[in-house]
Amino acid sequence: MPAVRFDSVEKTYTGARGTFQALRGVSFDIAQGEFFGLLGPNGAGKTTLISILAGLSRATAGRVTVMGHDVRADAAAARKALGIVPQELVFDPFFSVREALRIQSGYFGVRGNEAWIDELLAELGLADKADANMRQLSGGMKRRVLVAQALVHKPPVIVLDEPTAGVDVELRSTLWSFIGRLNRQGSTVLLTTHYLEEAEALCHRIGMLKQGQLVALDRTATLLQAAAATMLRFKTDQALPAALAAQARVTGRIVQLRVSDAAGVEQALAALRTAGVRIEDLEIGRPDLEDVFVDIMNGAQR
Ligand SMILES: Nc1ncnc2c1ncn2[C@@H]1O[C@H](COP(=O)(O)OP(=O)(O)OP(=O)(O)O)[C@@H](O)[C@H]1O
Ligand SMILES: [Mg+2]
Repeated sequence: MPAVRFDSVEKTYTGARGTFQALRGVSFDIAQGEFFGLLGPNGAGKTTLISILAGLSRATAGRVTVMGHDVRADAAAARKALGIVPQELVFDPFFSVREALRIQSGYFGVRGNEAWIDELLAELGLADKADANMRQLSGGMKRRVLVAQALVHKPPVIVLDEPTAGVDVELRSTLWSFIGRLNRQGSTVLLTTHYLEEAEALCHRIGMLKQGQLVALDRTATLLQAAAATMLRFKTDQALPAALAAQARVTGRIVQLRVSDAAGVEQALAALRTAGVRIEDLEIGRPDLEDVFVDIMNGAQR
């Protein structure tokens, strides 16, 4: 039995201004114990798929199960098997952090949970905020509470919808070591993120959504290997010659150029020299997940 099964899921939103098809027949399984990354640009349908998984939104067609429980026919059991960290910060401002976690435990019928609540507060760096009201917390701290709330009933399947947006470097690393430990102990993890280096480091397998369709689904290592190319990375303050600019990924002063082999490296460097472009900190490496993602989203053949 897979931890999660999406079977031909479609979602059409109907509003005053007409209809919009957000999911166009999405099918894939997430195995128990897997750390799965769901990637895609803004609006690709990631949160829509998670809302259907969570039972917050109804699929227009298709079927979703969690640990064998249909999210509609067997909604309570499916919901209990899930711990969801939502993308939007939603919370009740009148409760303290500890109260919010107790209420969430009660919602799932879990009692005698104080030791686990204390562990969650410690692991997520919230121990000294346990008695603070939710409205007294910073944005990043509120997100930590959402993570703790999702985990309070020890769900077998943990779903994280952009959990590190707006979270500082230190918490990102503590969060990932904690989630990584839960995963090694058997929890299944479904993660969406725009930080592709996080996905590359953490996820065993990756699915990519584009305009409501799954356009890639493979082991992370396989996706990276399939991108057979060499990446040239360097810094410059100058404009690139047009032929190179067309194939470069530029982030501020950092330029990444894809070439097919060693001869391509020589040609690119010669073109830069001829154009009089001064470069610094030259590195030659393999494509990373961001390169693969950009390729797939641009519809490149793999
Ligand atoms: N309630 C709604 N009514 C109408 N359209 C919606 C609704 N919710 C989402 N959409 C549309 O569905 C598409 C998918 O949205 P979704 O939130 O699933 O994207 P996403 O992949 O999570 O993006 P992001 O990376 O920005 O979080 C978008 O075009 C969005 O505008
Ligand atoms: Mg989203």
